[in-house]
Amino acid sequence: MRARMNMGDQSMRGFLDELERRGELVDIDRPVDPRFELASVLALFDRGPAVRLNRVTGSELPLVGNILSSRARIAAALRVPVTDVLDTLSAAVASRCKPEVVDTAHCQERRFAADEVWKRVLAPTYFTDDSGGYLTAGMIVAHDPVTGHRNASYARIKPLGPTTGFVGIAPNHHLTALARSAGADGLPVAVTLGTHPAIQMAACFYLGLGDDELEHAAHLLGAPVKVVRATTSDVLVPADAEVVIEGLLHADRPVHEGLVSEYHGMYEDYGDGITLEVTALTTRADPSVQVILPGLAAEHAYLAALPIAAGLRHALRLAGCGDTDVAVTLSGGGRVDVVVALPAHQGRQAKRAIFACFASVSMVKQVTVVDCDIDIWDAEHVHWARTSRMRWERDLILAPDVPADRNVPMQQGGTVTKVGMDATAKPGDRTPGHALAVPPRETVDRVRRRLETDGLGTRFAPTPVLWSLLDTGDRRPAGDQH
Ligand SMILES: Cc1cc2nc3c(=O)[nH]c(=O)nc-3n(C[C@H](O)[C@H](O)[C@H](O)COP(=O)(O)O)c2cc1C
Repeated sequence: MRARMNMGDQSMRGFLDELERRGELVDIDRPVDPRFELASVLALFDRGPAVRLNRVTGSELPLVGNILSSRARIAAALRVPVTDVLDTLSAAVASRCKPEVVDTAHCQERRFAADEVWKRVLAPTYFTDDSGGYLTAGMIVAHDPVTGHRNASYARIKPLGPTTGFVGIAPNHHLTALARSAGADGLPVAVTLGTHPAIQMAACFYLGLGDDELEHAAHLLGAPVKVVRATTSDVLVPADAEVVIEGLLHADRPVHEGLVSEYHGMYEDYGDGITLEVTALTTRADPSVQVILPGLAAEHAYLAALPIAAGLRHALRLAGCGDTDVAVTLSGGGRVDVVVALPAHQGRQAKRAIFACFASVSMVKQVTVVDCDIDIWDAEHVHWARTSRMRWERDLILAPDVPADRNVPMQQGGTVTKVGMDATAKPGDRTPGHALAVPPRETVDRVRRRLETDGLGTRFAPTPVLWSLLDTGDRRPAGDQH
């Protein structure tokens, strides 16, 4: 596996500086109410720049959001071209390197008693029917002292009493398993806000129980993750985080939540979550508090989508489907709707790819398999493939009554019908010569170069039939080669 350049910096602030230099960070200096106004600002800039809110009412600290809200942003954070993001992430899934424990760390420059936590770290209220304010960008690192298992993943936290909070974690997540096995003593954890984007991405990988996501982040950083021991437990905390809330997760202390927004953009009512007992707060000397707009928002979607896509790509390779490209679409909230592009001439693997995706990530509800001439992140192009290359009676798979995660749209009684669509072109479906109607490739390339020389390249807005010629080179599938 190719070694990656050591990024040196393991903080989130280095990337914020970079966004500022590139004009992709806006500062909001007018007062913003954390109840609904902050969510409105983030929603209005959802597909735009990152946002730093410098005067959120009730917070001494600035809040930053919409940082990783596009594939281009995530590529920039990983310092790779967009076309290499999936390769880079899937290499990280396959690679491990133990964290490096350091004695002093930026994230512990200031230390506070537990009851300072909600005075210093503000939890905004996002949506009309939310039952309270939430930390939505809390990446929780955990250490099970009995098994030695470590874990890093996101879960929402709602402040309750002065030193307690509600934590909402899906029952099938590894963090839940660790919290349950910890019993009455509670599971030592540290909720980190504002770590390097590479660490945030790794926290969203689908790995095995007990696999430590921080070991996989090392490949993305090009160096072991620097960690420091928490001040009240043996949890190893990313050393350059902005804010760290230390505590214990008590799975045996259920708390009712009320309505909560989900990635699909609607509310759910999951019933009870568990309790966080805060034991300490540590921060940098001048921290920012990271926020992520929950629900059907770009950052919330992409942060999950790309790590899931990387895991699926890894699984598809193990299943014998070759080097696929994988999108986990925004319309599926970055979780449940998957598009796989097979390598050239591999259309026969389509159904295998569908089942491999279902087997690999339980949340996946729909899989569309296309040829590699389709831009898998472009919904219109993918739907063109479905419309133009499928015979539904032959190419549609319906798998009824499959056990489903509780958050999958339209699941009923714990099961859902999963759908596979083989939208690859099949030899014999089209009369030879009746495939794509486009000008000759060489002509399009020549004209494009001339127009680019004339400074018109940025004005291109090509007709859909040119998509595959312009973006991806000559990758026309077997069924279309005449
Ligand atoms: C921004 C963000 C917020 C998330 N919030 C939650 C949450 O509140 N509850 C939850 O169960 N999963 C949440 N997730 C998903 C989990 O973090 C993710 O599925 C993770 O891979 C689970 O890891 P684990 O099984 O190792 O615990 C969130 C993901 C992201 C990107």
